[in-house]
Amino acid sequence: MSKTSTSGADVHRLDRQAARQPAYREHACSYDQRTGAFQSYRRAIIEALPVSRGQVVLDVGSGTGLCCGLLREKVGAQGGVVGIEESPEMAAVARERIAGEGWRNVTVVESPAEDAEIPVTADAALFCAVHDILQSPDALRNVMTKLRPGARVAAGGGKWAARWMVGVNLQARMLHAPYVRSFEGFDRPWSHLEQLIEDVHVRELALGSGYIVTGQAPQPPS
Ligand SMILES: C[S@@+](CC[C@H](N)C(=O)[O-])C[C@H]1O[C@@H](n2cnc3c(N)ncnc32)[C@H](O)[C@@H]1O
Repeated sequence: MSKTSTSGADVHRLDRQAARQPAYREHACSYDQRTGAFQSYRRAIIEALPVSRGQVVLDVGSGTGLCCGLLREKVGAQGGVVGIEESPEMAAVARERIAGEGWRNVTVVESPAEDAEIPVTADAALFCAVHDILQSPDALRNVMTKLRPGARVAAGGGKWAARWMVGVNLQARMLHAPYVRSFEGFDRPWSHLEQLIEDVHVRELALGSGYIVTGQAPQPPS
């Protein structure tokens, strides 16, 4: 008689999949149109990530690949961009973009970041508009194991402004609600990440309703 068992990790994965935002299922095709206006923020976050030609960068929660082209511009044709994306629908749009652009050095690993098998040791990692991933210590730990010591890290997205900025926060809620599973941690979205990186710098944008955080993977003691 065959016996099936479900591990704790499986249960967590099923929970995560069940909780996946409809924005990433039914609306994967309209995601670019709905969030295209934020391309200048994406550009600012990517500008804060010091990667150079020939290097390999992880685009964690790569979605439809809106950051991939900007990252590719930085690493050039000799470098590489590896997206990590759990939504098959979002990953499919990204793959179409990659094929359409003929980017041979851009790939997408379709998997939750928590257990993604990342086939490289990367020089940098980008976390752009991925609040849910930043709230997952397991995802962050898995990504960090695939970064070389001293690898650069940049994260950016939405956050709560000061409490008294009620209008700004109302707008932030409306803007981000379709794209976050929970607003838990939205006052300081990088709180888990900052425990795993060094030289942490935080810059607030948009009256405090946005941020860019940079840092680097720990270096071994010399
Ligand atoms: C708001 S979108 C951002 C996409 C892209 N970075 C951008 O700038 O447009 C968040 C993406 O993170 C993905 N995501 C959320 N949780 C994830 C996880 N645990 N592992 C991998 N991808 C995840 C979602 O499927 C979605 O495509």
